[in-house]
Formats: sequence, C-alpha cells, structure tokens
Amino acid sequence: MLQKPIIKTELPGPKAKQIIEEDTEYVTSSFNRYPYKLVVEKGYGVWVEDTDGNVFMDCNAGIAVCSTGHCHPEVVKAITQQTQTLIHMCGTNYYYRHLPALAKKLDELVPIKSPTRTYFANSGAEAVETALKLAIYHTKRQKFISFMGSFHGRSLATLSLTASKKIHQVGYMRQVLDVVHVPYPNKLRSPFAGVTDDESAATAVINYIENFVFKTTTPAEDVAGIVVEAIQGEGGYFPSPPNFLKELRRICNENGILLIVDEVHSGMGRTGKMFATEHYDVEPDIICASKGIASGLPIGVCVARKDIMNWPPGSHASTFGGNPVCIASALKTIELLENGLTENARIVGNYLKDGLLKLQDKYDCIGDVRGLGLMIGVEIVESKQTMKPTAELRDRIETACYNRGLLIFGGGGVSVIRWAPPLILTKQNVDVALNIFDEAVMASI
Ligand SMILES: Cc1ncc(COP(=O)(O)O)c(C=O)c1O
Repeated sequence: MLQKPIIKTELPGPKAKQIIEEDTEYVTSSFNRYPYKLVVEKGYGVWVEDTDGNVFMDCNAGIAVCSTGHCHPEVVKAITQQTQTLIHMCGTNYYYRHLPALAKKLDELVPIKSPTRTYFANSGAEAVETALKLAIYHTKRQKFISFMGSFHGRSLATLSLTASKKIHQVGYMRQVLDVVHVPYPNKLRSPFAGVTDDESAATAVINYIENFVFKTTTPAEDVAGIVVEAIQGEGGYFPSPPNFLKELRRICNENGILLIVDEVHSGMGRTGKMFATEHYDVEPDIICASKGIASGLPIGVCVARKDIMNWPPGSHASTFGGNPVCIASALKTIELLENGLTENARIVGNYLKDGLLKLQDKYDCIGDVRGLGLMIGVEIVESKQTMKPTAELRDRIETACYNRGLLIFGGGGVSVIRWAPPLILTKQNVDVALNIFDEAVMASI
C-alpha cells in the first residue's frame, strides 16, 4: 500500500500544463482555482494522481465531498449496479424505491425528533434555496437572518445569505432576498466590546439580534428563518460556541421563526458525528446536507419537519433531483459512515488536531487551530502577538505542501488552511501529512 506521495516531474507537469492552457481558453473564468495548479487524472482512497503520474495525499477530499475516499470500491459497485438498471426517470413525476429509502434513512439520522420529509436537490446551494422557499411558504414571512462569514451558495437567493467574501457579491448589485447579516460569534475577532471567550462572543451576538436587529430594521414577527452553519466552513472552520445554537433555538421558539441549519459542509460524519448539530444538542426545523453525502455524486437534501414540508404538488421540484444513481451512492456512503467512518473521523481527527496544536507551539505564524473531527482550520498569522491574518503566507504554505505532494486548501476566512480529508484517513497518513506540513511551514516562513 502506498505510504507517501510521489512527485516525479516539475509541477505542474507537461501534460498538466497543456490542459491548464485549454481550460484557460474555454472554461468559464469564474472558477476560483487554488494558488497551486493540480490537474487530476484519477483518485483512489486518500490519494490522487495527476496527468503526469505524480501522486498526492488528498487532505481536501474534493472540498469535503469524497467522504469515503476516492472511488471507494463499495461505492463504485453500488453506482455501477445502479447504472445497469435505472439511471433516470424523474422522481418529481414518477415513483421509485430509492427516494423513500434515503428519505426514511435521513429521518432516522437527522437531529430532528418529529417526523420529517426530504426534498431532493442536486447541490448544496439548491438544498439551501429549498429551505428558503419552504420557510417563506410556511411562515408567510420574507425576512432572514444570516451570519457574517457564512457561505450558503452562489445561486441568486442563497447569495443573499452568503457573507464570506466580497468577490462573491461584487457585480451582482443587490440582494434578492431580504437578509440581515449579523456577526458570527468569533472570540478571536469580534466587533463587540468585551469579548474574551466563546461564551462572551455568543452572548454579544444574541444580544445584538434581540436588542438591536429585532428592535430596529427587522421585527422578529417578520423573520421567516435564521440560517446558520453549525461550523462555519468557508468562513474559516469556526465551530459554533457551545450554547450559541441553543440560544438561536430559544429566539426562534419565542418568535415563530424557523431554525435552518446548513450542514452542507459539516454534515455526514465529518465532525465525528453524523451531523455537527449533534455536538450542540439542538433540534433544527430544517437541515440541509450535500457535499459528503454521496462520496462525490451530485445530490443535496433539505430535510424538514413533516408539518413544515407539507407544500402542495408542483410548488417545488427539479428534473434531476433524487437521481437513483446518486441515491444508490448516498445509501452506500451512509452505510460506510455508520459502520466506522464517522467514528474514524472522531479518532483520527483528534490525532490530527493534536499534531497541529504541537505545530502551533512550534511556529509563531500558526495563530489558531480549531475544529471538530476531520474538519480542522489552521489560521496563519503574521505573529501570535498581532494575530494579523496573512493570506500571502497561507498561499506560500499551501503551495509548498503541494510541491511536496500534500493537498490542503486555503480559501477559508482570510488566511485559514483547511483540513477536510476523506474520513478513511489513518493515523499513519496523518504522520506523513504532518511531516510534510511541518516542512512546508518551515520552508515558507
Ligand atoms: C455550508 C455550505 N452551504 C452551501 C454550500 C453550497 O454548496 P454547492 O457548492 O454544492 O452549491 C457550500 C459549499 O461550499 C457550503 O459550504
């Protein structure tokens, strides 16, 4: 079994360069490629191979998607078998067993005690968009509260919620939905005075919502939903402070507002529990998942309390939603998560975090290490004393890792390196990854 990356050409290699050239010519210029340029040919387990035969350890999992690793044999088998019997029929117009099978499984898994129903979408944004439409439909209200640093997608409606980077917004002129953005409880950089820890960070935000937002621009009785990530993903892997989601739940209960938790990034075993919300002992009204649910096939789900998801036939649907091949992959993925991978994420995640915390002690440029399970953020700063984020150093470290055969991804917050490896990662893989990361930091400072 492969233990270490193999780099045998200059990077990117000659074949990769040719593909990058054609991509630049013909593919939309809106895709945001990383500082390093990787042209992937194949993937197996935690490894990906580029077009020139270089082998990298993938600690991104296709941006937190390939939860069971690349091309897990059992997932490949489930997909292959499904393609031999039914590829598409349009579940919004016909019935097939796969739809209720996954919906029933999700009803068992989601942290919502009351009976639920599931809407099948094709992406994370589409799942969140569904939650927004459903919330408006159900409450007959139109306003939403979202958080600074959040990412919920780039479709026009979800873009109204998203607040992680200016580039997502610039040129689109206005929010389609009526969304008020409030600060996310961030003890490192809070706009509120007197914030020193998680608890004071959360209290300040709750106070701001109840005593400023509700009393001025946004009466609580007009708010359809509060939309929150249990762990901010694109924002830089910030877990919610312990009581924050519970306090949001209280606000929602007191004001007839729906609590919509976006677990597109944090869900499906990544944090050591099936849903990150479970770490907080809170019940959302609506929960969205996507990325990790089907090991790489495109599917999103919006799961809501049954008494909320009772809209009439025709009120929301999409041709490909709930495609049987994607569902076959999702059911197999969930089986693997339940049979050990979620627990592995917890154990190996703790091991990885411990190793990164040791590197934080060693390097002044590692300002913070945070996260749950295999969703870990490493904040790169000028120094621990200033805690000033430095995207430039972050990019250098990321590229130095790539040159040594380790794939990690930046793009979180201003200067956060994100670790979201496949949940099959072993402690032995972690040792190799941490060695490379250590070397890369050393070479970049
Ligand atoms: C929390 C969260 N919500 C929604 C989305 C949007 O998902 P997609 O890119 O599949 O539309 C993302 C994507 O990164 C995400 O991290």
